[in-house]
Amino acid sequence: MKPEDMIEFEVNQLLEAINFRYGYDFRDYSRASLERRILNRVSLSDLGFVSEMLPKILHEPDFFDLFLRDMSVTVTEMFREPQVFRKVRQEVFTQLKTYARVNIWHAGCATGEEVYSMAIMLKEEGLLARTRIYATDYNNHSLEIAEKGIYPAEKVKLFTQNYLASGGKASFADYYLAKFKSAKMAESLKEHITFANHNLMKDQSFAEMHLIVCRNVLIYFNPKLQDRVLGLFKESLIPRGFLLLGDKETLEFSQVKSSFEEFAAKERIFRRLIHV
Ligand SMILES: C[S@@+](CC[C@H](N)C(=O)[O-])C[C@H]1O[C@@H](n2cnc3c(N)ncnc32)[C@H](O)[C@@H]1O
Repeated sequence: MKPEDMIEFEVNQLLEAINFRYGYDFRDYSRASLERRILNRVSLSDLGFVSEMLPKILHEPDFFDLFLRDMSVTVTEMFREPQVFRKVRQEVFTQLKTYARVNIWHAGCATGEEVYSMAIMLKEEGLLARTRIYATDYNNHSLEIAEKGIYPAEKVKLFTQNYLASGGKASFADYYLAKFKSAKMAESLKEHITFANHNLMKDQSFAEMHLIVCRNVLIYFNPKLQDRVLGLFKESLIPRGFLLLGDKETLEFSQVKSSFEEFAAKERIFRRLIHV
């Protein structure tokens, strides 16, 4: 038997055990990066085989927490791809201004940088007071960081450059408090954000969203899970609501494709059609 067939078998068993014990179905994650991460954990834990992870996963919840952190890639930054934020500010916000109340959902918000970027733009465009932002992720460790809103001072230079490139109208320094070697985001932004654990593999939709932002999350899912998640987003959006995806993500091959129109193709902004 080829070694890779054995690994595949053992990974299948592990994923089944995780689903049985914790209700997280990682069988719908992109296989290659999943296997790479599992093998990395095998080596970091001084184990010989993937199957040796099985009893630890089943009987040690702390080991499962470690596994969850391994699986979750939390790379992010403020105003990541500034031109996308610029487009949202210039074109999506014009539409959002026509509503008395605005709901925004950031799904897979990681450590929150994207969410604070949105809050800053909303504030500058006079929309923050009427907006509630829901920021969710299934990784509690990242959510804790997001909720605190404290970031290393050495990242502020990049964040400031991105902010300016995205069309920022004031000074990025207006939005954080410098403390020792960190930057703490302003309470006036936080007041409008609700952080919550939400697992796109199994949890339900939200209601009445005007804009959903889910960038660089679907790339980790297989087409079946992508369809589930995009279905959730369709259900959660009001008719004419907006969906913003990451630059490698698309609705092209999904079941919901016909329910959306392209609003800004280059920036991956889609708009829900009214009657489908
Ligand atoms: C690369 S980060 C993206 C962060 C941010 N959206 C951005 O583009 O800068 C991917 C995030 O998706 C989250 N994620 C992965 N699977 C998830 C799931 N099933 N439910 C909720 N969040 C998930 C990870 O925990 C991680 O924080």
